[in-house]
Amino acid sequence: MNETETMKEKEMVDAQAGPADPIMDPPASPSATATVDAKAKRIDAEDLNIYYGDFLAVKDCSVNIHPNKVTALIGSSGCGKSTFLRSLNRMHELIDGARVEGKVLLDGTDIYARNMDPVLVRQQIGMVFQQPNPFPTMSIYENTAAGLRLNRKKTKKTELDGIVERSLTGAHLWDEVKDRLDKPAGGLSGGQQQRLCIARATAIEPEVLLMDEPCSALDPIATLAIEDLINELKKRFTIVIVTHNMQQAARASDYTGFFNIEKSGDPGVLVEIDETEKIFSNPRLKETEDYVSGRFG
Ligand SMILES: Nc1ncnc2c1ncn2[C@@H]1O[C@H](COP(=O)(O)OP(=O)(O)OP(=O)(O)O)[C@@H](O)[C@H]1O
Ligand SMILES: [Mg+2]
Repeated sequence: MNETETMKEKEMVDAQAGPADPIMDPPASPSATATVDAKAKRIDAEDLNIYYGDFLAVKDCSVNIHPNKVTALIGSSGCGKSTFLRSLNRMHELIDGARVEGKVLLDGTDIYARNMDPVLVRQQIGMVFQQPNPFPTMSIYENTAAGLRLNRKKTKKTELDGIVERSLTGAHLWDEVKDRLDKPAGGLSGGQQQRLCIARATAIEPEVLLMDEPCSALDPIATLAIEDLINELKKRFTIVIVTHNMQQAARASDYTGFFNIEKSGDPGVLVEIDETEKIFSNPRLKETEDYVSGRFG
């Protein structure tokens, strides 16, 4: 991702109110380790065509995203994974000239319906970006509460304190920052900043959490910590994660979708999506098999 695109993501957060793969033992299946705390919502995308001006970036995409599961999106660079992800919470339309055709249903309600408020949509479908992007001069506390401050008119200080502590605890960051909540977030490490962004996104209790390569700036230890966290978070949220890391997709997700592109300039197409185990052991398409086994390009 280039710097301009990263800047755009920073602006999008305002609007929203990897490293080498470590070698390790195969994990237990994600579903085996998490039980559901609260039923989150499902997403059904129907016939999505996603454009930048005249350029069709993602074509005819229909997919069911299951509640309280982790869905990983994989595919080579430029095939439309981030574009698709941003269409799921109406962030795509924040880009000049960008538009979406088709439907995205959140538990059956079309988020693109004329009477839907995009700000409310983004409260229910939160996003964490590739580069940790806290507000660097703002305190750790204020960063965690930033979405709440934008979304709610008045929250009592004691209530806010509780939500901040809960969100930072949920993001496995509380113990590391509880004595310096008033210090700038810019002083945290990259992995801590990414967990802070996850705390910020979860503080507003969305139904769905979209994560665009959340571990690409992190070392293998921090990456595993985030994967553990994702496994915890799916008890409360529906999660969609974009990753270039095949081991991560295999470890951390229940379902995996493969985006492909025929040739440069063509639109990206979600060519196969299935249970992660199936995608990595016996996918339907040869192109999926080639990609997940590293035989591509
Ligand atoms: N703001 C934009 N304006 C115009 N075209 C864009 C914009 N952002 C992305 N694109 C184009 O849309 C296509 C899909 O890009 P996208 O960023 O969704 O790919 P990606 O799969 O996320 O790639 P990567 O793995 O490198 O992050 C690419 O051809 C890209 O150049
Ligand atoms: Mg991307």
